[in-house]
Amino acid sequence: MNVFKGKSLNVISDYSIDERRYFFRKVKELKDAIISSDEKKLDEFRINDPDFGIYEVFLENSTRTRESFRNAAKFHHAKVSELLTENSSINKGESFADTFNMLTGYENSIFIVRSTVEGLTKWLSEETKEYASRNGLKYAPSFINAGDGKHEHPTQELLDEFTFLEDNDMSFDSIHVALVGDLFHGRTVHSKADGLMLFDRVKVDLVAPDELAMPENYVEKMKENGFEVRSFKSIEEYIKSDDVANKWYFTRPQLERMGDKILQKAPLLRGAITFKKEFLPLIDPNTKFYHPLPRHKEFPTIPSFLDSTPFNAWERQAINGYYCRIVLISLISGKVGEDYVPKEREEEKSEKDYIVQVKPENTSKHSNYSEGVRPIKEGIVIDHIDKGENPAEIRKHMALVSSVLKLDDERGGEWISKGQDGRYKGIIFRPGYIDIDRKSLKRLAAVAPGSTLNIIQDGNVIYKYRTHMPPRIYNFDDLECKNENCISNAKNKEGIPSMFYKTKDGHFSCAYCSTFHSFKEIWKKGK
Ligand code: NCD
Repeated sequence: MNVFKGKSLNVISDYSIDERRYFFRKVKELKDAIISSDEKKLDEFRINDPDFGIYEVFLENSTRTRESFRNAAKFHHAKVSELLTENSSINKGESFADTFNMLTGYENSIFIVRSTVEGLTKWLSEETKEYASRNGLKYAPSFINAGDGKHEHPTQELLDEFTFLEDNDMSFDSIHVALVGDLFHGRTVHSKADGLMLFDRVKVDLVAPDELAMPENYVEKMKENGFEVRSFKSIEEYIKSDDVANKWYFTRPQLERMGDKILQKAPLLRGAITFKKEFLPLIDPNTKFYHPLPRHKEFPTIPSFLDSTPFNAWERQAINGYYCRIVLISLISGKVGEDYVPKEREEEKSEKDYIVQVKPENTSKHSNYSEGVRPIKEGIVIDHIDKGENPAEIRKHMALVSSVLKLDDERGGEWISKGQDGRYKGIIFRPGYIDIDRKSLKRLAAVAPGSTLNIIQDGNVIYKYRTHMPPRIYNFDDLECKNENCISNAKNKEGIPSMFYKTKDGHFSCAYCSTFHSFKEIWKKGK
């Protein structure tokens, strides 16, 4: 079985570390074959089928990604098309689903899509599968994310990693890299949070002024992934520090994505992330500079005096983009990859254990109830909502729990109790029969993980459940990703239901755009 055949690439982690290591070995083979004009070897990679449809859809500007993909697709002697989006029905208010479903019907197997909307290809790869099956098509297409808003740029990540590897003697042991520039808007650096896991030991230095700093969720993700992370506000500050990296990855200040307020500060911000001649004697002469490009002709952060120096790795990096994209298409088409033996992925934790039924304590007359909880004869008590120092916050949280569980119209009340450790917790009680089904329990686990639900009958707790954060939350129509650029956000009017995955450190990450949410933030505003 070929695990790569038909496999979409929406975010870099869609391809496991082991799969990427195999991919890079193949890219090396192809690059060597191109350089030595080994036609026989090249044919092993080539699809060579004029009916194999590869479709480019670029809803945002691009030169390198679009053209390297177009050239890579042509290498394959396949059917290569491009949707001219400025003249398409997307501008007449057509949904992305309708547009791509239709193109799917015209015998297209791979879509390469760039957009400002985040999570688009993830959604489309699910949607077109259903379309293909409804219409009895013999295939469902695969999607390659060629950059989605500020989210990810997984194919750039592949070519960046390949270039790092070349400068690492193809060793996966360790990497120390400085990310310099607009770390806030740059999707290529966001993909590094999962991408650099390719290496066994990772040190990342973030060099950016506050206005362009790496968003907190990516910094957290890097730490979760075991990276050593340091932050600096400018190159000047960075080169004075100990242990400066010998790989510097620059990104362009993305002025087109910035508001007027930040624009006024542009010269200052550029200054902090632009390499100057006077820094040259202060860095290791073996240092390599990388850049996803483009550079600005007037204000390049890697000035052109560096072009013909050994620091220049960005040109080779851009050429590697062509090789990486050829191999990616070979793999997805199934032309290459048959000899890959998949490593077993870590077992997914089962969905069951986030609601645990526990034995109710003895509720005889003599038992000790915590402050405020008097036994109610019939009804429910939700206990252990939050634990903390701030009663006002807990009260707000209880209002959210009550609303999410639709308990606002019931009798009863909320209580804040102080434990022996001096910390507060919230308790909601609702007398009378209230039907709490499995779905409501899942909602409780998502909105108040750590809480317990007691169901009381005849003055006795007959059922007690302890909740933990669910690994995945979906299928509720009051969920919403707070990122307005996300394909699932109501602002985009695509009618896509929200879905979240639990992260290692207890956040909910949007399944489409990866934005981190606390368990209080995943519910529609006003809830
Ligand atoms: C980047 C992009 O579009 O994300 N360029 C690229 O694809 N090579 C970076 C940028 O626009 O600055």
